[in-house]
Amino acid sequence: MNVIEVKDYQEMSKRAAAYILEKVRHSKKLNLGLATGGTPIGTYQNLIEDHNENHTSYKDVTTFNLDEYAGISGDDPNSYRYFMNHQLFNHIDIDKSNTYIPQGDACDLKKECTDYEKLVSDHGGVDLQILGIGSNGHIGFNEPGTSFESNTHIVELAQSTREANARYFSSFEDVPKKAVTMGIATIMKSREILLLISGENKKEALSQFLHNEVTESFPASILRNHPNVTIIADKAALANEKVYI
Ligand code: GLP
Repeated sequence: MNVIEVKDYQEMSKRAAAYILEKVRHSKKLNLGLATGGTPIGTYQNLIEDHNENHTSYKDVTTFNLDEYAGISGDDPNSYRYFMNHQLFNHIDIDKSNTYIPQGDACDLKKECTDYEKLVSDHGGVDLQILGIGSNGHIGFNEPGTSFESNTHIVELAQSTREANARYFSSFEDVPKKAVTMGIATIMKSREILLLISGENKKEALSQFLHNEVTESFPASILRNHPNVTIIADKAALANEKVYI
């Protein structure tokens, strides 16, 4: 596991974008796993800036997002489809038909999960998966207690996750109670993982991740068993970790 310490959110975003750009430029065909949340927004901004300045092309890139809220359509400003279109896809030359996100308003959500899992594997799996982390250790929307064997599935969101994400909604009640997420097994099949961690509010999660046992009660801990993980974390998130670094 490679831990890169950076000064702050801006530097994390720059380093993460540079990491992704290396792959975009040098792969004939790239399956990129993407995440939502506040953490990757700066990374996406850097990718857009690079696209405007250097014209890096995404024509040979296919993307797979980790998750989507259940019961809302892709046109809903709170959906992750809307987030991705507005934070990234609308601003680069990616073919939108090559951008995959689970459909949260599918009438048969269970089938949507099976189909999404198959879609990822039919495309040959994810080459590089970008991840953030929830303060309870969730990755994607895999809450504590999720089986490490899980494939794409429907989840009941933890109260703490709904509270953390309420900032994007007009009220807490509007935050969906369920979501569809790639499972832990799906994420672990990615050939490479780039985990981004920024801010003081993530320092406990980062400590647990680095020092505690691998346990389903802290989903991100499984990443310690993955052969190719890079973490880019800022000083605030690494505040407890002077010894580790
Ligand atoms: C959401 C997403 C996760 C993300 C997490 C952290 O729940 N489903 O993929 O990593 O929030 O979000 P943030 O980056 O805003 O802290």
